[in-house]
Amino acid sequence: MKMSRSDFPDGFLFGAATSSYQIEGHAEGGAGRTHWDDFAATPGNVVRAENGARACDHYNRLDEDLDLLAGLGVDVYRFSTSWARVLPEGRGTPNGEGLDFYDRLVDGLLQRGIKPAVTLYHWELPSPLADLGGWRNRDIADWFADFAEVIMGRIGDRVWSAAPINEPWCVGWLSHFEGAHAPGLRDIRATARAMHHVLLAHGRAIQVMRGLRMGNLGAVCNLEWAAPADESDASRRAAERYDAIYNRFFLGGLFKGAYPDIALEGLGPHMPDNWQDDFPTITAPVDWCGLNYYTRKLIAHNPGPWPGYAETTGDLPQTTMGWEIYPDGLYDFLTRTRNDYTGDLPLYVTENGMSADDTLAPDGTVPDPFRTDYLDMHLGAVQRAIADCVPVRGYYCWSLMDNYEWALGYEKRFGLIHVDFETLKRTPKASYHALAAALSR
Ligand code: FCB
Repeated sequence: MKMSRSDFPDGFLFGAATSSYQIEGHAEGGAGRTHWDDFAATPGNVVRAENGARACDHYNRLDEDLDLLAGLGVDVYRFSTSWARVLPEGRGTPNGEGLDFYDRLVDGLLQRGIKPAVTLYHWELPSPLADLGGWRNRDIADWFADFAEVIMGRIGDRVWSAAPINEPWCVGWLSHFEGAHAPGLRDIRATARAMHHVLLAHGRAIQVMRGLRMGNLGAVCNLEWAAPADESDASRRAAERYDAIYNRFFLGGLFKGAYPDIALEGLGPHMPDNWQDDFPTITAPVDWCGLNYYTRKLIAHNPGPWPGYAETTGDLPQTTMGWEIYPDGLYDFLTRTRNDYTGDLPLYVTENGMSADDTLAPDGTVPDPFRTDYLDMHLGAVQRAIADCVPVRGYYCWSLMDNYEWALGYEKRFGLIHVDFETLKRTPKASYHALAAALSR
């Protein structure tokens, strides 16, 4: 790797990220059923109908995985707590084994000198709450606040940072408009409600955690750079709509207490009653903002109904997700987020990384030079932003290990550590060793 730790300001934090359903193994330890189990069991939704029942079996291999994390030399680990593991019915009686697991995880990190950065919700909604309408039901904000109280009542005294929700765009739009993630709806009214309620739930959880006297609370959004596919005015406007729905809706709600007009052109008639009254809760002050960044899209005009855009890809090199590699987008988002939304607030890159066809070589290594290059290029973009005085304070690689990549099952490998999903053997890839070396100098 070209980059090294000493190229970054003192105190800049390097981390790795994972999420509960993607690695833990939800059949273990008394976790409840989630809407991802239901979505995956419905033919056509997930590659080979795979689910997270076993995943990486992290639940039973916690110590081995934390040792690998420590071997990487990271300062901080971003993980998530499964709502259904903590509260199998979504509400009511907590699962003691689940709470014990997160307790062990946090203590295991602290013993290894790694800061625990927790996300409360990375998508595994308990099925009984999905039955009640899930994110479409306004009551979810209170159910979520209660979950925050239970889990943070147990680990909140020892976590370094906490963010309520991973990627509100995925929870709202991807899952309720595109139908690509659980619960797999394609319904504009459900979408508008989910997009708003997810931010309301964020705000309620922030209130609860402040009440528990927790500090270093943040919000994590995924951002995708939208560029017009051609020179036409129609495509320029289509790209603006895409940007408004994907990026500006959530940052605008969280940091300005307003949604962009061009998003409301389509969503407005479907918003829940009196949604404007929720902004004092949604904008509850946070201590940092996290950006998950992977790629850009070229957006063309599409003469169909709102939102009237078509996603196309350009001619940059792509990952096995079909995502173009575009580090400039990370620089642009860091500067734009600072300029338009967050000012002096610390920013973190809370996810960045790439999928590839990683295979074990005969000598037992996993050569993945393109991943090392990807990390180098994106860390370069972070450095440029820092040079422009953007307050970027840390960078987390997605992901520590290969895992359940949602609708793509176990087919896409994002890890620094290779996982054989038959034997569950972990093998650090060349990029793991490259990053470890970079962090030690
Ligand atoms: C992000 C998700 C994460 C993983 C990566 C590739 O959107 O937060 O769980 O799927 O993409």
